[in-house]
Amino acid sequence: MTRDREKQLAAEAAAALVEDGMVVGLGTGSTAAFALRKLGERIRGGLKIQGVPSSRWAENMARELGIPLTDFSRTTRIDMTLDGADEVDPGLNLIKGGGGALFREKIVAAASTRLVIFADGSKRVPTLGKFPLPVEVNPFGWQVAARKLGDLGAPVTLRQAGGQPFLSDNQGYILDCAFGAIPDPPELEARIRRITGVMECGLFCGLAHTVLLAEGETVHTLRR
Ligand code: 5RP
Repeated sequence: MTRDREKQLAAEAAAALVEDGMVVGLGTGSTAAFALRKLGERIRGGLKIQGVPSSRWAENMARELGIPLTDFSRTTRIDMTLDGADEVDPGLNLIKGGGGALFREKIVAAASTRLVIFADGSKRVPTLGKFPLPVEVNPFGWQVAARKLGDLGAPVTLRQAGGQPFLSDNQGYILDCAFGAIPDPPELEARIRRITGVMECGLFCGLAHTVLLAEGETVHTLRR
């Protein structure tokens, strides 16, 4: 059983939850790609939905797949968002942002009546934090936010792409913060969000309603 097969199983189980008439948040990443492809297939079979992309990547992919799109100027309510994650703990707290889309992903998640996360089994952890926590910051004075994140206990790395700082869809920088075990994710999220210059934090606490985790051929449904 490859990890890709687990991603596909979990993502397709999530895409099967989408119903006619829904406004659907479209997640970002290699697992979300399987869900988007499945949605494209269902749309070709007659499903009628409108998608709200969580990144330029998701927008481009949705266009290629023929998924009709809408945006927050037309609706501020999303019925169901389908997205991946970098880590999931037993309380359904998440680390997201490995692909650098955490800011838009969190806005889309916050607008959603139901956030459905799907992942391969390697993403299930007893405690968040093995995956370095992505934090998006304003490029101006990013070093100040980096120092304050460091004061919270994390070695901090400015994410790079092609020898330059990685720029998010919102022109933010990403600081990857290696906290190690995060025993109280909501508390750390609150502390990080109080740092001036922080645009968003990759901890998603209390947002996921359902997590579909594939382990082998079995897709487990975890609910909050
Ligand atoms: C992007 C994300 C992704 O959902 C997360 O990084 C998981 O990606 P993948 O499905 O490729 O493992 O949060 O910002």
